[in-house]
Amino acid sequence: MIDINNLDTRFESYFETLENENLFDKTLRLDKTLSGGILTGVEALGLTTENKTSPISYLTDKNGEKRKVIMLGSNSYLNLSSNKKVIKSAKAALKKFGLATGAVSNYAGITQLHIELEHKIAKLYNTEDAIVYPSGYGANMGIISALCSKNDVIICDSANHASIMDGARLSGAEIKIYPHKNMKYLEKILSEIPDNKKGRLIITDGVFSMDGDMAPLDKIYELSKKYGCAIMTDDAHGIGITGKTGKGTAEYFNLSGKIDLNAGMLSKTPGGLGGYCAAKREIIQFLRLYSRTYFFSTSLPPAIVAGLNTSLELILKDEAGRSELVEKVSYFKDLLTASGFDIGNSQSAIIPLMVYDEEKLFKMHKFLLNSGIYTNIVTYPAVRRKECRLRLCVMKDLRYSDIEKAVKIITKAGIKFGLTDG
Ligand SMILES: Cc1ncc(COP(=O)(O)O)c(C=O)c1O
Repeated sequence: MIDINNLDTRFESYFETLENENLFDKTLRLDKTLSGGILTGVEALGLTTENKTSPISYLTDKNGEKRKVIMLGSNSYLNLSSNKKVIKSAKAALKKFGLATGAVSNYAGITQLHIELEHKIAKLYNTEDAIVYPSGYGANMGIISALCSKNDVIICDSANHASIMDGARLSGAEIKIYPHKNMKYLEKILSEIPDNKKGRLIITDGVFSMDGDMAPLDKIYELSKKYGCAIMTDDAHGIGITGKTGKGTAEYFNLSGKIDLNAGMLSKTPGGLGGYCAAKREIIQFLRLYSRTYFFSTSLPPAIVAGLNTSLELILKDEAGRSELVEKVSYFKDLLTASGFDIGNSQSAIIPLMVYDEEKLFKMHKFLLNSGIYTNIVTYPAVRRKECRLRLCVMKDLRYSDIEKAVKIITKAGIKFGLTDG
């Protein structure tokens, strides 16, 4: 009989092998907790999807139970992953090149399609060249650990994505963290770096993945000039959406072509897979040789690359439906705010619905799922526990009637769990 009061539900309790434990004992400890019949927030992880990424999805849980849901958890904001033109291009490449390249990029693992994709990315950022990595996570790891080493300083926003933090750690550089978007603190850090440390890199998400807000890139740029720092942005959630024509956070701040390292992901708005860096020619050349996640990892399958070329074509021409998405996001946010929810300061298609209490979060998530709404559950280690939230993502093809329906159900849940009076 398991004593549920004695189970340790903290995620961090299972990181380490304890004294006198063997390697796998912690997996048994975790298993005991997860099968203890208490809500831990992971119940709804591992659902399978039965259809193309779409605002209405059919999900199956681990017990085989099927649900039709309004999908508010996808990062395919412009529905490009299921766009007809994108799929047509991918199909043609699949027929011509087969399933995958079977080689790393540097060893004949690329096609003309890969080169075309890099050219399009360079154009998007108004830079000389770009490199495409087979994974977004691997892109950040590879870029940062190739360019930075023990004599350098990396300065990170506290809300940067895990892949940035992990890349920084792997690099061996000194790491300094400033509280989220706190420019005074950033300046304090910069002013204290010894003069002889010239390898300085500020890294920030363009649009932050958990809060949906934008980095104050204009101020970061000013500080970088004042203190002789390079800047790297990860615009995974900005590209295709943010800025006058959807070219991302740098465009929004009129800094197109002025950011040293423009990283981003091909897995979100572009609807495919992979990550990239756009920068000056010699920097990209360096990354092709020194990024281990590029050099030692098989290139993206040509079908994905062909689909991405079509996605980027649409994004470059601003014909991917950005303004329709922006209108729907704004409608959704207005309704949630009118219902009394705290939705932070999002400036993107990501809406954080702040809950601030893990127990309520788990219960609310379960209630919503059972009521036909899929949201992402976000707590430690993605954010601090006391800042836990549901993360709602809006897709362009979401119908206004479904937004209204979703808000009604979310409001019912909010009242039930004491987040709002409705
Ligand atoms: C800001 C940010 N950077 C990097 C990544 C990693 O991208 P991918 O999922 O394509 O590996 C993500 C996705 O989770 C992200 O949100």
